[in-house]
Amino acid sequence: MPQRTCLAIVLAAGEGTRMRTSLPKALHAIGGRTLLEHVLSAVSGADIALVVGPDHGALETAAKKLVPDAQVFVQRERLGTAHAVLAAKAALEKKHDDILVMFADTPLVRAETLTQLRAALAQGAAVAVLGFKPVDPTGYGRLVMKGDDLTAIVEHRDASDEQRKIDFVNGGLMALSGAHALTILQRIDNANAKGEYYLTDAVAIARDMGLKAVAIETAEDDVLGINTKAQLAQAEAVLQNRLRNAAMEAGVTMVAPETVFLSTDTKFGNDVTIEPNVVFGLGVTVDDGAVIRAFSHLEGAHVGKGARVGPYARLRPGAELGADVHIGNFVEVKAAKIEDGAKANHLSYIGDARVGAGANIGAGTITCNYDGINKHLTDIGAGSFIGSNSALVAPVKIGDGAYIGSGSVITKNVPADALALERSEQTVKEGWAKKVQALKAAKAKKK
Ligand code: UD1
Ligand code: CA
Repeated sequence: MPQRTCLAIVLAAGEGTRMRTSLPKALHAIGGRTLLEHVLSAVSGADIALVVGPDHGALETAAKKLVPDAQVFVQRERLGTAHAVLAAKAALEKKHDDILVMFADTPLVRAETLTQLRAALAQGAAVAVLGFKPVDPTGYGRLVMKGDDLTAIVEHRDASDEQRKIDFVNGGLMALSGAHALTILQRIDNANAKGEYYLTDAVAIARDMGLKAVAIETAEDDVLGINTKAQLAQAEAVLQNRLRNAAMEAGVTMVAPETVFLSTDTKFGNDVTIEPNVVFGLGVTVDDGAVIRAFSHLEGAHVGKGARVGPYARLRPGAELGADVHIGNFVEVKAAKIEDGAKANHLSYIGDARVGAGANIGAGTITCNYDGINKHLTDIGAGSFIGSNSALVAPVKIGDGAYIGSGSVITKNVPADALALERSEQTVKEGWAKKVQALKAAKAKKK
């Protein structure tokens, strides 16, 4: 059977004033990814028509970055959801088999749910909507059913007392058969309480045309809409639960999953353990058998097989840990390759560096990578030993197997297998402390 073609019209003309920010609503993020990106990924494979409001530059740029051939349409006046869909009339005229109307502020809808909607069209429905049963249906459009047929959607404001008792409501998104979509949409008027062109009227119009409309029940989570910062946080919570469950399903051990924060692109190998209170920013891959200990923060990092990170470690973008590497408490790694078996267990900053296999970085070691103007590389050889509290002033190279005495400030390259020591001779004054103690005691007695 040939694949049915699909056009997804993404409505993003929402003003978003209740978010109280200057950022367009659809560019707020959950799981490290914008709401727009979530919606676009749910409809991946479909042709995209994005409908934006008059101040749309940022949204257009973001959409084009994700889907270069997305078409962008501007809805100049906000006259309702059907009016917004018709802004994309030129795209609708191409007669796709299926039309999906998506809301950019409803980011949690799953691709599987959309597949169900489209399956209803393939089975002959002209309109298919997502229904759910919220605890409180106030504000939602009510789905008026007659057996399995959806006969109308009545917006809350237009509903009679009797209709307001219906607990099955409209999730907002809609699938329309491409063959009829334009005809149906063009018949929608604005004779209602809000004076808006309601997309939801498509149901009654399709019925009038002798076509079929259906409602598919879905979980409330799928159609959670975001209007406020509180709802943004609520959506984040739903998404985090999905991501945690997927990770555990794939075999990741989490001691306290509710305290672990993931990104949509976090990748785990087998037998990974994550202790409580760990945050994964974008771009993290953790290989088999690695352990991420409590209170660590990772972003743009790769953790090799069997490596140990934390507690209280910070891996910043470009941190590349090989197999069995140990990165301990209060160690920060940025743009640095830490090769197999190397260890930095305590209180260090390793930035713009390479640490060779098996090297040991002592407590308090700092790569001084920044001279105030430029950043420079520190290259630490395999098997070397960097004594505690050393400062390695980049650019600098420590040869394989070299030994740096504790407390050194290393500004020149150190050859392989050499010892470099940079600190003043220690002075010892025999009996000095005892004399001072005696003086102190005598003074105390006089009082
Ligand atoms: C809509 C549904 C309602 C459903 C609810 C679910 C309609 C008429 N009603 O109501 O049945 O229960 O969602 O949350 O569809 N938009 C535009 N341009 C416009 C108007 C809206 O782009 O002129 C966009 C908004 O940015 C938003 C989406 O369409 O992303 C939905 O519009 P909104 O006004 O929030 O609809 P609801 O009243 O929530
Ligand atoms: Ca809404």
